[in-house]
Amino acid sequence: SCSADNDKTVVIGLAADSGCGKSTFMRRLTSVFGGAAEPPKGGNPDSNTLISDMTTVICLDDYHSLDRNGRKEKGVTALDPKANDFDLMYEQVKAVKEGIAVEKPIYNHVTGLLDPPELIKPPKIFVIEGLHPMYDARVRELLDFSIYLDISPEVKFAWKIQRDMAERGHSLESIKASIEARKPDFDAYIDPQKQYADAVIEVLPTQLIPDDEGKVLRVRLIMKEGVKYFNPVYLFDEGSTISWVPCGRKLTCSYPGIKFAYGPETYFGHEVSVLEMDGQFDRLDELIYVESHLSNISTKFYGEVTQQMLKHADFPGSNNGTGLFQTIIGLKIRDLYEQIVTSKVAAPLEATKA
Ligand code: ADP
Ligand code: G6P
Repeated sequence: SCSADNDKTVVIGLAADSGCGKSTFMRRLTSVFGGAAEPPKGGNPDSNTLISDMTTVICLDDYHSLDRNGRKEKGVTALDPKANDFDLMYEQVKAVKEGIAVEKPIYNHVTGLLDPPELIKPPKIFVIEGLHPMYDARVRELLDFSIYLDISPEVKFAWKIQRDMAERGHSLESIKASIEARKPDFDAYIDPQKQYADAVIEVLPTQLIPDDEGKVLRVRLIMKEGVKYFNPVYLFDEGSTISWVPCGRKLTCSYPGIKFAYGPETYFGHEVSVLEMDGQFDRLDELIYVESHLSNISTKFYGEVTQQMLKHADFPGSNNGTGLFQTIIGLKIRDLYEQIVTSKVAAPLEATKA
């Protein structure tokens, strides 16, 4: 039974609205653990699951209890808890966390129907991503770490236009209408989850250019204090309040430049540390200069953040705070995982001492 305990799965929750960068974040995270994540071999080609050596990422849309037709008939959106089976989500996440494989349903995004289930074996790191990882208190309790991607309405709109207009041929009006239609349920069921997150990545329009339309971003990494196995990142001097414009001899900054900020704040009544980056990098290799001024970033060697960012320079957000903070959170999760594993190995020894 001791060895079984040491094998327990670490569970990570990632919440965001759709089209807010969850899959991009997952690609950065799985890359930190080495090896790209792929759909289960020989399974349903419409499976939403991604598996690598260390990680399994499931999409919580698979717990839709109402399929597309059912939602239409009942007049509920996918964001509504009534369209989702939280009992099953809880049972299955709990089982996987305890080392037990489950037959998880598949929500087919192509057909809008529920497909026959797929087998999910307990991985080392189990990521549940989707609309509601922190909605149900029982599921929330199972999370070893949780993240919320908080994309401001202006930026969400800019990203949706880019994707749905350019890649999917939707009209500006239909994109506006679909965002408006989702808004009440988003506000009621998705957005409130951020109060429970251990880390929030907040994405806002820049303050460096007046009236910018969501192209240059101001990104804030909000990190809860007192979370087990998680020490917030800091700039220069832990706990102090700092504003830093690194543009100078070491960093090339064209208009509008880059501005960092760091300091303590309160977020939903919790003490947090906030690291902020407004603006974007001209040259990604110069990120090393910024990286060398950050502490507690859980790298294994000097320059690992910069290396990860350069490796995935083609991913959206690689020249700004979204890519930087997603990469750093990926490293923090690796660190958290390693600490949990170490503490489990040490625990039986502690018990014999007593
Ligand atoms: P999700 O998995 O939450 O639906 P994706 O990671 O697929 O989101 O991102 C959806 C789209 O949003 C991308 O195709 C891209 O156009 C845009 N996007 C996501 N993250 C960023 C970012 N950091 N910067 C700019 N655009 C982004
Ligand atoms: C998934 C996504 C939702 C999206 C829905 C489409 O569940 O996660 O964000 O709204 O599909 O639902 P629809 O009822 O429009 O097919």
